[in-house]
Amino acid sequence: MKEIKVGLCGLGTVGTGVVNLLKNHKEEIKHKLGCEIVIKKVLVNNLHKQRDIAIDREWLTNNPDELVNNPDIDVIVEVMGGIEDTNLLLEQAVKNKKHIVTANKDLMAVHGQRLLRLAKENHCDIFYDASVAGGIPILRSLSDGLASDRIQKIMGIVNGTTNYILTKMTDEKLPFEPVLKEAQELGFAEADPTSDVEGLDAARKMTLLANLAFKMEIGLDDVEVSGISEISQEDITFANSLGYTIKLIGIASINRGKVEVSVEPTLLPHDHPLAQVKNEYNAVYVYGEAVGETMFYGPGAGSMPTATAVVSDLMEVIKNIRLGISGNSYISPQYETQLKQNTE
Ligand code: HSE
Repeated sequence: MKEIKVGLCGLGTVGTGVVNLLKNHKEEIKHKLGCEIVIKKVLVNNLHKQRDIAIDREWLTNNPDELVNNPDIDVIVEVMGGIEDTNLLLEQAVKNKKHIVTANKDLMAVHGQRLLRLAKENHCDIFYDASVAGGIPILRSLSDGLASDRIQKIMGIVNGTTNYILTKMTDEKLPFEPVLKEAQELGFAEADPTSDVEGLDAARKMTLLANLAFKMEIGLDDVEVSGISEISQEDITFANSLGYTIKLIGIASINRGKVEVSVEPTLLPHDHPLAQVKNEYNAVYVYGEAVGETMFYGPGAGSMPTATAVVSDLMEVIKNIRLGISGNSYISPQYETQLKQNTE
């Protein structure tokens, strides 16, 4: 295995980060893997758009077949977003025995479980660590580092845009709209930032965390969601005067087999660890029966942090190919039993 050939779908904020990271850390990655990662094709909407990145024009295509039906490509890295069309594309790729790395929480929250099963049937991996909390390896930690434990509660800040807005509204007394615009310019916000500000993005991430941690099949409809669009400067100032900070907090807990998941603006005492999390940073608190309290903290959005998660997942795919153990991404026997029961 001298090189692994990649088809990259999307060349926006994250896609550009992936190309840059593969270029800037090329030697270390090659040394760690013992093989080279080579981008063969990049799927884009507009072939002629001016881009802030030096890119081989030969790579670019607007035809998905050149990636998913290309026998020369081993792994599809999907960072273009979208749900239904992207799902069809990934399904086709998996049927063609291609491994998938995706940062697409929207798609994984809706079609993830089915795609994971399809991938298993086809002995392919699907890794999606970049879809939750950007650069924090939280899905990997739940599936590997904490694999021996029983997770009972997950609580945290999992949306960088809303945390950025709330931080600027609290610390600098800035109004909502211009700060949202800034978050968009910095590449934190979704193409349609409604999903950020109304809590849907965080809800999707909480379902992915809960499904993985509790080996369940929780859908978005099971999540209680409210966002931050109704939070005013007066609310923040009033909370502050009482010793509280307002944060958009996701909670997923399991009690006697009953799972509850919610995303809501929450009052936290100023000295609470999650109240100290500023700007686009995310933090996820995980309580395990055996390990007790753990906390994961880092940049939850942005080009290079998210690219780090994508490329690390890509490296994991390659290690599995080498070991001949592809097709078990984030699936445990218990999880499979649960899936089976749910479909019977
Ligand atoms: N819009 C998302 C956020 C991007 O702000 O957290 C990272 O998933």
